[in-house]
Amino acid sequence: MDKEKVIIFDTTLRDGEQSPGASLNIEEKIEIAQQLNRLNVDVIEAGFPASSAGEFEAVSSIAKKIKNKIIAGLARVTRKDIEQAGMALKDAAHPRIHTFIATSPIQMKYKLKMDDDEVLRSAVNAVKYARRFSDDIEFSPEDATRSKKQFLYRIIEKVINAGATVVNIPDTVGYTIPEEFALLIRDIRNSVPNINKIVLSVHCHDDLGLAVANSLAAVVNGARQVECTINGIGERAGNASLEEIVMSIKIRNALFSVYTGIKTEEIYRTSRLVSTLSGIPVQPNKAIVGRNAFAHEAGIHQDGVLKKRATYEIIPPRVIGLKGSRLILGKHSGRHGFKKRLEELGHRLSSRDMGKAFVQFKKLADKKKEIFDEDIEAIVEEGIEKIPQLFRLEYIQVSTGNQTIPTATVKISKKGKIVQEASCGDGPVDAVYRAIDRITRVPVNLVDYSLKAVTGGKDAMGEVNIKVEDKRKRLFSGRGLSTDVIEASALAYINAINKFFRK
Ligand code: KIV
Ligand code: ZN
Repeated sequence: MDKEKVIIFDTTLRDGEQSPGASLNIEEKIEIAQQLNRLNVDVIEAGFPASSAGEFEAVSSIAKKIKNKIIAGLARVTRKDIEQAGMALKDAAHPRIHTFIATSPIQMKYKLKMDDDEVLRSAVNAVKYARRFSDDIEFSPEDATRSKKQFLYRIIEKVINAGATVVNIPDTVGYTIPEEFALLIRDIRNSVPNINKIVLSVHCHDDLGLAVANSLAAVVNGARQVECTINGIGERAGNASLEEIVMSIKIRNALFSVYTGIKTEEIYRTSRLVSTLSGIPVQPNKAIVGRNAFAHEAGIHQDGVLKKRATYEIIPPRVIGLKGSRLILGKHSGRHGFKKRLEELGHRLSSRDMGKAFVQFKKLADKKKEIFDEDIEAIVEEGIEKIPQLFRLEYIQVSTGNQTIPTATVKISKKGKIVQEASCGDGPVDAVYRAIDRITRVPVNLVDYSLKAVTGGKDAMGEVNIKVEDKRKRLFSGRGLSTDVIEASALAYINAINKFFRK
């Protein structure tokens, strides 16, 4: 049987932007819309034009710029909202007005203060009016999953007769569960006589953590458009996550009679962009795009993945645009993962040295949550390869300030003989490095410098990691640790120079 396409309607810029704490300016919305275009979503809901002048402008700019996708604008059932949406979308190549009104007893009684007939009339009039601006009209009976089914069937039938082309069934408050939602979709398809004239869509919220499961249950039961957001952002607990829906359909394709047009290799990049611009971080264990989604720490898992990736990974990382998975070295890691990382860092140790290094690694891992490459380098250098201390820092004094030229005086011992030099520089670290260069006379360039605090508080230990490059483009790393960051910088530099001399 030929598979049917399920339309991916992205509402990151509308429902996603309604997330508490998220606010995107027009340029940011355009940047995200362009990335959604590269991701190849079918519909971009660009915003709610009547809600503010900025929203209007954002929808209108996106409509002008993106010509190969349907651009949707949200509108309540009022003439003013529909006119605003119509105007904002006037330059779109494929405009869609998405109009909605609540149909659940609780929302009609307390929020709208309208009865069934009034809601029905407003919906029909809104769809008819919206058709003056576009041939593509989507109607949503808000809070559908808490609405009376008979009323839902009636209103859906009437809006289709009024000209709706898509009918979307929202689980506005994230209340339903997969079996119940599947039945609702089947019931709608069996009870609304003209249902085959339109695309049936679903829009699920995640209040019970079921938005993706509910959306997939709907797809299995005939829904052919899914509304979702990148990283699952959205009102309250969020919306169904686009990447989870798309990857479920792709990875378990034998269970679905549908496919999506999404370029999955763009998923990770899109997730990072949305998180950076919206300011909403992605939780580390988030499916598909979380930092830990392709990270393995347990020794048994690392061993399995190194022997055959699919033992513990159901998605090849490159399918979502990642280079590979990560083996996190920590106290749960085993010898296989540690050896692999050592080899990647260029260290091929004898089995005796490997045994010694592994003992050191386990000791450190008991004290430190995650073991980084610099820690591994230090284990090898301090415990196995023993860098000869040709140069040793004896004394350092720096004078700096916002009105002073930074100046450093450094004393270094070389084979027991102490040499002193002074130098100015662009900053205190530069002054120190120039003074060291005068003593050691080593032709290297600093190509990387990073400083981090390894303990908390004002008296935190600073750890400096650097890389220098010689004329033959060989790299030497150096590490220095001190409560004084200038001293840590000097120690790191001398450490790298000692390695140069060992070579
Ligand atoms: O959750 C909801 O009901 C909505 C509608 C506007 C579709 O976002
Ligand atoms: Zn919603």
